[in-house]
Amino acid sequence: MPLIAPSFLSANFLNLEADCRMLNESAADWFHLDVMDGRFVPNISFGIPVIEHIRKATTKVCDVHLMILEPERYAEAFAKAGADILSVHIEACTHLHRNIQQIKSLGMKAGVAVNPHTPVAALYDILGDIDLVCLMSVNPGFGGQTFIPRTLDKIRELRRMIDDNKLNVQIEIDGGVTLQNAKSIIDAGADVLVAGNTVFRSADPVATIAALKNIA
Ligand code: DX5
Ligand code: ZN
Repeated sequence: MPLIAPSFLSANFLNLEADCRMLNESAADWFHLDVMDGRFVPNISFGIPVIEHIRKATTKVCDVHLMILEPERYAEAFAKAGADILSVHIEACTHLHRNIQQIKSLGMKAGVAVNPHTPVAALYDILGDIDLVCLMSVNPGFGGQTFIPRTLDKIRELRRMIDDNKLNVQIEIDGGVTLQNAKSIIDAGADVLVAGNTVFRSADPVATIAALKNIA
């Protein structure tokens, strides 16, 4: 069964408490929290104080996806805010290995996020040091975009790299996940499905989460 990580980017920002409660009572495994700086991506979302509050409203895993430049400047603050997993973009890190060590030394699991144009082969020398790859299946910055089909090949290739080297790294797919394409994503080898619009724009988010969870 895949892990399901609803993305708060599509939540109701005027009543996050209600969405936290809904997700707590659902089959959701992780809370996916998208942080944008208006520099690495052409949008600005929410930051540390919001995550601090969400942390207090759940015991589920807080999976923080940083779409920011110089993430090393904020890693400690996100650890204090209660992030369990911190993902940084390979395209935003000059010293990715150092950044990963920093995240782990702060007691968090370390993830690397990868844009659609970045080959998964670029992860080869870091894969043994990380817990998660957040494979972007849309260009980061916005919810509600369409899944890029080429991602399926990237999932298969990454799955092979992980299994061939007997590594314990989870593959998370982020962007454009729907009830229609979820099965092909799981079959390709993904472990975690992020879902923003599909969950929050549905008539019954709890049922949609359960449907995603039971899709395989
Ligand atoms: C995009 C974010 C995603 C986004 C996914 O930059 O990283 O997590 O919220 O939203 P949907 O599922 O609507 O594509
Ligand atoms: Zn994300």
